[in-house]
Amino acid sequence: MTRFSIAVLAFAFATPAWAQDAALLDAGKRVFLKCRSCHSVEKDAGNMTGPNLWGVFGRKAGTEPDFQYSEAVKKSGIVWDEAKIDEWLSSPKSFLPGNKMAFIGLPKEEDRKAVLAYLKKKSAEE
Ligand code: HEC
Repeated sequence: MTRFSIAVLAFAFATPAWAQDAALLDAGKRVFLKCRSCHSVEKDAGNMTGPNLWGVFGRKAGTEPDFQYSEAVKKSGIVWDEAKIDEWLSSPKSFLPGNKMAFIGLPKEEDRKAVLAYLKKKSAEE
């Protein structure tokens, strides 16, 4: 391999991590527009059609105060982490039958990955 091609390769793989993160968060922000009609993620922003999602990572499903959850969510025993939210979002209806999140889901893995990155950051912001 020539010195030149090594340099080209090094350049191609050297997209800095912060630039990748920024692009992912940006994509996630756009995907989250689908959730915004029902969910806020900012602290103390309150419940809407769906429960407020601030602090959702590590939270037991169905425990946001003053929100009327379905029995399906309340009795699920789930503690929300990345893997569980990913499963939930891929098909809310089949993941927890009888829940009342009227959302078709995000069939594309890349959309879920992006929205999870965004949700993780926003749901932890003071
Ligand atoms: C049409 C309104 C609507 C949309 C759109 C929607 N949700 Fe929901 N979401 C709900 C409702 C209602 C619940 C409560 C479900 C229940 O109690 O059965 C819920 C519950 C949740 C929960 C569980 C929260 C908890 O406290 O246990 C998460 C996580 C969640 N939604 C994430 C999302 C994300 C991320 C999106 C966008 C990709 C989204 N939702 C889109 C209405 C919506």
